[in-house]
Amino acid sequence: MTLEFGPHIRHQRLRKTPSTRAMLRETTLNADHLIQPIFIHETLKKPKPIATLPGMSQYPVADAVKEAEACFKAGLHAVLLFGIPEKKDEAGSAAWDPNGGVQQVIRAIKKRVPELVVMADCCLCEYTTHGHCGVLTDDGGLDNDETLDGLAKTAVSYAEAGADWVAPSGMMDGMVAAIRHVLDTHGYPLTAILSYAVKYASAFYGPFRDAAGSDAFCGERTHHQMQPSQRKEAIAEAEQDALEGADVIMVKPALAYLDIIRDLADRLTIPIAAYHVSGTYSMTKLAAKAGLIDEAAAFHEQLMGIKRAGAQLIISYYAKEFALKTAHARSK
Ligand code: PBG
Repeated sequence: MTLEFGPHIRHQRLRKTPSTRAMLRETTLNADHLIQPIFIHETLKKPKPIATLPGMSQYPVADAVKEAEACFKAGLHAVLLFGIPEKKDEAGSAAWDPNGGVQQVIRAIKKRVPELVVMADCCLCEYTTHGHCGVLTDDGGLDNDETLDGLAKTAVSYAEAGADWVAPSGMMDGMVAAIRHVLDTHGYPLTAILSYAVKYASAFYGPFRDAAGSDAFCGERTHHQMQPSQRKEAIAEAEQDALEGADVIMVKPALAYLDIIRDLADRLTIPIAAYHVSGTYSMTKLAAKAGLIDEAAAFHEQLMGIKRAGAQLIISYYAKEFALKTAHARSK
């Protein structure tokens, strides 16, 4: 058959072999770009599997440190720590306890694997009895400015413990400016801020609630997190946080918001991170378990999509597994 458009049009020539495909790969994805979340539970005696997040566990302090070390050995450069305290209160004050689980784990990691970049989540929802992301007002809403105070104290206590990055995730207005100010005035000008600048009120956080010990009631999130319809507002949030001094801007969740990642990557000069959240992780694990999809291939495709959209860094529960499956594992 004669083709009218001519035989020279053959896109398939460059797809024929693994070598040509590797040479021409436009987007690369490897363990350098992935960050593993670790859940620290202050009262556990041994690791406890998280039912809603297949393959993940909550760890006592000593085991969390071992898990961080295992992430490093697998080839990852960074972990993101979340804490579940022994005691919660109205204000979430356990978050800035210098002897809190997260602070202990940071200190121990910095002794054992100082090269590992330690990031700590900076939000009060795991630490408040009511499960909201901050201090409540009389009518049950969130007091934005009162909350900033707690976030600032928490960030300083993480920096004191040795955290390399703090990651404010509560979507409070002015949180980056408040944290940058206290870090600088307390002698931590080089502690970086990874801001969850663009965080949508999402159904895909479901499994995380169990992982973070925030019981059934988590408070109304739509008042401070973004509605999924918003695109321009994402740019406004990200630009504001960059102005306030954020070092890296995060979009969360990643998969339903790839266009937002692309918008921000095109527009901002600071790096963009994205959170491959609990819902998408667990959906993929469960679908693979049911025999519906190939797990490793599906995760690879999701993470590649997030990277291709413009995220330099990806936080994923699959990070360590990904690293172990690739050739980047460190020999020591
Ligand atoms: C809040 C926080 C949440 C997640 C990370 N940090 C939950 C929320 O905002 O409701 C969700 C992460 C995930 O689903 O994987 N501290």
